[in-house]
Amino acid sequence: MLVLGIETSCDETSAALVADGEVVLSNVIATQLDLLRKFGGVVPEIAARRHTELIGYVIKEAIDSAGKTLADVEAIAVTSRQGLIGCLLVGVAAAKSLSYSRQIPLIGVHHIEGHIFANRLSNPRMPVPHVCLTVSGGHTMLLYVRDSCEYELLGTTLDDAAGEAFDKIAKFFGLDFPGGPVIDKLSTQGDRAAFNFPRPMLKARALDFSFSGLKTSIINTFKDRIARNEKLPLADIAASFQEAIVDVLVSKTMRAATERGASAVSVTGGVSANNRLREAFLDICRQKGMEVYFPKLPLCTDNAAMIAAAGYARMKLGETADINLNVFPNAPLEV
Ligand code: KG4
Ligand code: ZN
Repeated sequence: MLVLGIETSCDETSAALVADGEVVLSNVIATQLDLLRKFGGVVPEIAARRHTELIGYVIKEAIDSAGKTLADVEAIAVTSRQGLIGCLLVGVAAAKSLSYSRQIPLIGVHHIEGHIFANRLSNPRMPVPHVCLTVSGGHTMLLYVRDSCEYELLGTTLDDAAGEAFDKIAKFFGLDFPGGPVIDKLSTQGDRAAFNFPRPMLKARALDFSFSGLKTSIINTFKDRIARNEKLPLADIAASFQEAIVDVLVSKTMRAATERGASAVSVTGGVSANNRLREAFLDICRQKGMEVYFPKLPLCTDNAAMIAAAGYARMKLGETADINLNVFPNAPLEV
C-alpha cells in the first residue's frame, strides 16, 4: 500500500511516499533555515505562512520524484497532534482535501509516534518491548514501547527539551541556528572535561529531565566575560555542555532499561543525530550487552516518511480519520 505522508508540525514542510510502511520512495523536506536564521528561532505565524506557500510544491515533488502519480496514492497520513497549531492546520487541510477528492483513507498521526517509526523504518528488526528515548527541539521523553503502537510514558522534561537547550546555548554564544549540529561539530575540537557543568536530575529517582537549570548555569558563568568582550574557549564550552546533556540522557535511559528488564534501547528525534550521544550509547550498550538503535541521519529530524510509516501502522489497526480530523497542539501520546 502506497501512503503519502505529510508533516508540517513545526518548521519543516515535508511530504513522502512510503510503500507498505517500510520502503521510502521519496522524502522531500523544505526547511525554513533562512527564516530561522533571520529571527533566531521559529516564529509560529511566519512558519505557518511558509508552509502554505510550499505545501503544494512539496507534495508534488514527493510524488514526482518517486516516479508515481496522485492516482497511485492509496492513503494519506498527516501529523495532526503535537506541534504549532497554525502549522499543523496547513498539513491537515492539504491532507483532507486530497483524501476527500481522491476518496482514499486519511490517518491523523501523533508527531512523537512518527519519530518512533523513524527508527522502525531504519531498523525493521528492532525488537519490542524496548525503552525509547525521543529527544528533539520540542520534547525529551522516555517511553516503554510495549508493542507496535503501545507506549507507556516513563519520564519527560519538566521544562526545556534537550534540543531546545542546544539551540538556546548556541544562540547565547552567537552561534548559528539550529544549535545542535553546530555544537556537535564544534565539540570535536574541544575538551569535554574542561568545565564541570551541572547534570540536572541525574540522581533523582524519577525518570524525568530538566535542562533549563543547566542553561541558566552556563549563561551565569559566562555573561560577565561576554559583557567584557573576553575571548571564550567556545569549543571547550560546547564539548562540556554537550557532555552534561549526553550524561543525563544516557544514564536515565539505561536506568529505565534496567528497571524494565529491557534488552534493547532506541534513540530518536533531532538530537539522536548527535555524534557524541551515539558514541556514548554504543559504548555503554556494548558493555552491558544491550542492543541500541538509531534512525538513519535524514530520518532523525522532522520528516514525512516517518509520519507515513506510523500512519500505515495505525491504519492496519483500523484507525482512520475523516473530514472532521482536528489538530491538537499539546495532545499526549496515546498509550
Ligand atoms: O526532531 P526535530 O527536527 O524537531 C522537533 O520535533 O523538535 O529536532 C530538531 C532539534 C533541534 O533542537 C536541533 O538543534 C536538534 O534537533 N539537533 C541536534 C543535532 N541535529 C539536530 N542536536 C544535537 N546534535 C545534533 N547533531
Ligand atoms: Zn520532531
